[in-house]
Amino acid sequence: MKYNPCFHLLSVLWIQCFLVCSSAIAIRNLATDQSALILFKDGIVDPQNVLANSWTASTSVCKWVGVSCGVIHERVVALNLTGNIPPHLANLSFLHSLDLSSNHFYGHLPPELGHLHRLRVIELSFNGLSGEIPSWLGNLHRVNILKMRSNSFAGTIPRTLVNMSNLEILDLGFNQLFGQ
Ligand SMILES: *[C@@H]1O[C@H](CO)[C@@H](O)[C@H](O)[C@H]1NC(C)=O
Ligand SMILES: *[C@@H]1O[C@H](CO)[C@@H](O)[C@H](O)[C@H]1NC(C)=O
Ligand SMILES: *[C@@H]1O[C@H](CO)[C@@H](O)[C@H](O)[C@H]1NC(C)=O
Repeated sequence: MKYNPCFHLLSVLWIQCFLVCSSAIAIRNLATDQSALILFKDGIVDPQNVLANSWTASTSVCKWVGVSCGVIHERVVALNLTGNIPPHLANLSFLHSLDLSSNHFYGHLPPELGHLHRLRVIELSFNGLSGEIPSWLGNLHRVNILKMRSNSFAGTIPRTLVNMSNLEILDLGFNQLFGQ
């Protein structure tokens, strides 16, 4: 296609309008993400004060340690707390990547996580999570990496996982699973 400067100008204007027009909404939603993460932070043990020092109101949530925001919607899209911390995250509705591996998380996975329909990456390996592998994982159709190796999950693998039609990597090794 031949370069058309008029078309180029129009698309620049359109992109600028999009950014300006959507920023009011984005700020409000980002504030929601921020309060979800603050509550999450308050519920976790942070002996090295990693979050206490980074997750402060004086910096944008998108610059906080372990937090990534999307380019189009200014929302939290990825949380990577490898090496540090834990969850209360179901309101991060734009989250597509959650890596909480190699921590000391324990207990059951909160069923609210099953509402995070944009999730593509779930990495929870090397923790102390227990209970059954949740059947609601089957609702998360976009997940392509599910790693929950080396936890204390017990019971059988739920049949609903067959509905995770984008799954490419599944690692449930080193748990206490049985059955077919
Ligand atoms: C999550 O959203 C619900 C309503 O949408 C609200 O009641 C709740 O306080 C929020 N939780 C956090 C952690 O922001
Ligand atoms: C999380 O961060 C660690 C360390 O920076 C990195 O090795 C890992 O690939 C990241 N995980 C994801 C899902 O991006
Ligand atoms: C997979 O999803 C379909 C459509 O929602 C549903 O009817 C079916 O019961 C699910 N299969 C399993 C094994 O959960």
